[in-house]
Amino acid sequence: MLDLHHTYSDTNVSGNSILNQRNTHKVITDLLTHNAQMAVIGLGYVGLPLALEFARKLDLVGFDIKQNRVNMMNANEDPSGELPRSAFDNRKINFTANVNDLADAKFYIVAVPTPVDANKKPNLNALISATQMVGSVLKKGDYVVFESTVYPGCTEEVCQPILENNSGLKVGIDFKIGYSPERINPGDKKHTLTKITKVVSGCDQEACDVIADVYSMIIEAGVHPATSIKVAEASKIIENTQRDINIALMNELSMIFEKVGIRTQDVLDAAGTKWNFLKFYPGLVGGHCIGVDPYYLVHKANELGVNARLIAASRAVNDNMPQHVANRIVKQLREDGIANMDAKVLVRGITFKEDVQDIRNSKAAEMVQHLKSMGINVTVEDPQAVPSEVMHEYGIEATSNPTGEFDCIVLAVPHKEFNEDTIDKYLSMSTAQPFIFDFRNTIKDVPRGVVYMTL
Ligand SMILES: NC(=O)c1ccc[n+]([C@@H]2O[C@H](COP(=O)([O-])OP(=O)(O)OC[C@H]3O[C@@H](n4cnc5c(N)ncnc54)[C@H](O)[C@@H]3O)[C@@H](O)[C@H]2O)c1
Repeated sequence: MLDLHHTYSDTNVSGNSILNQRNTHKVITDLLTHNAQMAVIGLGYVGLPLALEFARKLDLVGFDIKQNRVNMMNANEDPSGELPRSAFDNRKINFTANVNDLADAKFYIVAVPTPVDANKKPNLNALISATQMVGSVLKKGDYVVFESTVYPGCTEEVCQPILENNSGLKVGIDFKIGYSPERINPGDKKHTLTKITKVVSGCDQEACDVIADVYSMIIEAGVHPATSIKVAEASKIIENTQRDINIALMNELSMIFEKVGIRTQDVLDAAGTKWNFLKFYPGLVGGHCIGVDPYYLVHKANELGVNARLIAASRAVNDNMPQHVANRIVKQLREDGIANMDAKVLVRGITFKEDVQDIRNSKAAEMVQHLKSMGINVTVEDPQAVPSEVMHEYGIEATSNPTGEFDCIVLAVPHKEFNEDTIDKYLSMSTAQPFIFDFRNTIKDVPRGVVYMTL
């Protein structure tokens, strides 16, 4: 008896319990009876949790090109600093950087980075080289599923030909491909991998069914089979594009309301009493997903002759925010009679968002760099970021214990540690003329006389 626990939810899958109606596929039988292995390629924020989850049921090979990361994982350590050591307990995973260890793999999941280059164009280097490697070891009957975020068409137009050329095999006949986007929200402890509906897709119905069944082994929330690979790719990229556009709108509104002389939060509180007003807030959009993925869609649109003006404009608005907030700080300091060279500013939070240690594409760091370039003395405090990484990535010193008095305190990233601080803490770290810039409006009971700004 196979221990495939079936988790299609009624709401996510059209038709009745699909799995019970069809014979279990050989790939699944082989995986569940440990006659074949699953291989996860790229063990970062996405790949490692996925590999650990599947390893509860299957034999896993976890492949990463970085030997130092492999060594850490073999020592039960998550190089991304997200998972506790206990996450590795009772898991059978061969962490490796050796392609020969993929010999017994039958089901590949590729989760390598898909960043943009200096011109904000898709940088597919990691995806291409990972696909070339999988192509070089591909066998008849194998499955390859891509999880990296890409534009619609990338899997079939870029990855599929590489797999075919490098293996000499034909998709749909000799092997199958699919796409299943990862939808985790960094730092979110509630909506975790197994609790988010998984969108799955395949190059044909059989592939889609098998891929759905494989993910159903671990995804408690159920799977949603998309009608094609392109649909699955597009579904992921529009989730982040939609957020980006909505946050850009809030950022633009906050620039208008600043000039009007009213608080954006007050406006949102009032407008939010309508049942269909969407709850978005102004903020810095950094990281490797929302601040990156829309560029992939803009690129594809351009290729197809569509001018994706709204998406591109939203990216521009959000990318301009670090400069905009730095200018607001300098303007207020000047109004308070403090020259840039004399100003001491404390920036609380340097990660790309709250409650993560990830500093990639941090807009708080970009803001600090703007302030520094204007001659301001900036101290950075972050209880979660790794100081050596902040220095390496941005040349910025980060501390968890700042001292002295500051002309301005910026609560840029509201980590949970900062949210425990009362206004008294801010006042005790301020000069006689307190100026607090609380991006997300989280500090309570700010007394009169304090210059208190929000986005
Ligand atoms: N981090 C998230 O929250 C998140 C959420 C949804 C989707 N995604 C998408 O998932 C993909 C992976 O993102 P991530 O955050 O896990 O990236 P990451 O940078 O944390 O990890 C990627 C891993 O892949 C490895 N790698 C790079 N090139 C490789 C290659 N050629 N072969 C094998 N391994 C290779 C790296 O060494 C690293 O360990 C991206 O497309 C990203 O957009 C990420």
